[in-house]
Amino acid sequence: MSDLVVSVENVTAGYLPGVDILTECNLTASRGELIGIIGPNGAGKSTLLKAIFGQVNVRSGSVTLEGEDITNLRANRLVAHGVGFIPQTNNVFPSLSIEENLQMGAFQKPKMLAERVDFVTTVFPDLAKRLKQRAGGLSGGERQMVAMGRALMMDPKVLLLDEPSAGLSPVRQDEAFLRVSEINKAGVTCIMVEQNARRCLQICDRGYVLDQGHDAYTGTGRELLHDPKVTELYLGTLGSEQNADPGVHRPVAG
Ligand SMILES: Nc1ncnc2c1ncn2[C@@H]1O[C@H](COP(=O)(O)OP(=O)(O)O)[C@@H](O)[C@H]1O
Ligand SMILES: [Mg+2]
Repeated sequence: MSDLVVSVENVTAGYLPGVDILTECNLTASRGELIGIIGPNGAGKSTLLKAIFGQVNVRSGSVTLEGEDITNLRANRLVAHGVGFIPQTNNVFPSLSIEENLQMGAFQKPKMLAERVDFVTTVFPDLAKRLKQRAGGLSGGERQMVAMGRALMMDPKVLLLDEPSAGLSPVRQDEAFLRVSEINKAGVTCIMVEQNARRCLQICDRGYVLDQGHDAYTGTGRELLHDPKVTELYLGTLGSEQNADPGVHRPVAG
């Protein structure tokens, strides 16, 4: 079997008739890779994740998962196929306990429940001690851990994360990046969108710079971090060393 998990090929997609947000956009993720997607506000980063997750109409091009065409499949089918998606907000059931949130994640595969809870609590030991706690009472960072845990319950072939560090305090942002790294180290292929471009490129294997709905640059995280054009055009002040402190920059809300 090829190592290719996700392949987005020449995808053109949009929400409104006649308005393309993505134009001939490309991205691949191989088994075990952590892929970062960066780019200006409104570039289409979230839309690219939505194109993989069947949330925006793909007008031309294709999305494949392990070689199988999944273009424009509905979200519930995609989850069953092994695509996990963690949206930026509203990603837990607040009235349910942590344990119940995890169980909701595996409702399509109840037989895997115990094994998956084991996996998730191994990746996130902090959740293990607090399974009975209500998700609504947790901090933003903790809720995000539950959301990640829930997505992992289906044993996804790929996990899509939309701005895991957004809206968190600097310390919590560090934890969010650490969590994504831990999930990835546990063997899960991840595709992460981030406003925090520098941090994202520091931890990803490969990155894509999206500009006006197109993959303008791609390379290893390291290559992109040190590419003068990318630095000048897309990393801005984030590219300068004096601002390397992850706490200094909060993305401008878009
Ligand atoms: N549901 C939607 N309906 C119509 N236009 C949308 C919708 N969601 C996003 N857009 C538009 O698509 C473009 C890209 O948005 P988005 O993918 O959210 O960018 P990013 O995540 O890179 O900031 C923006 O111009 C935005 O206004
Ligand atoms: Mg977005």
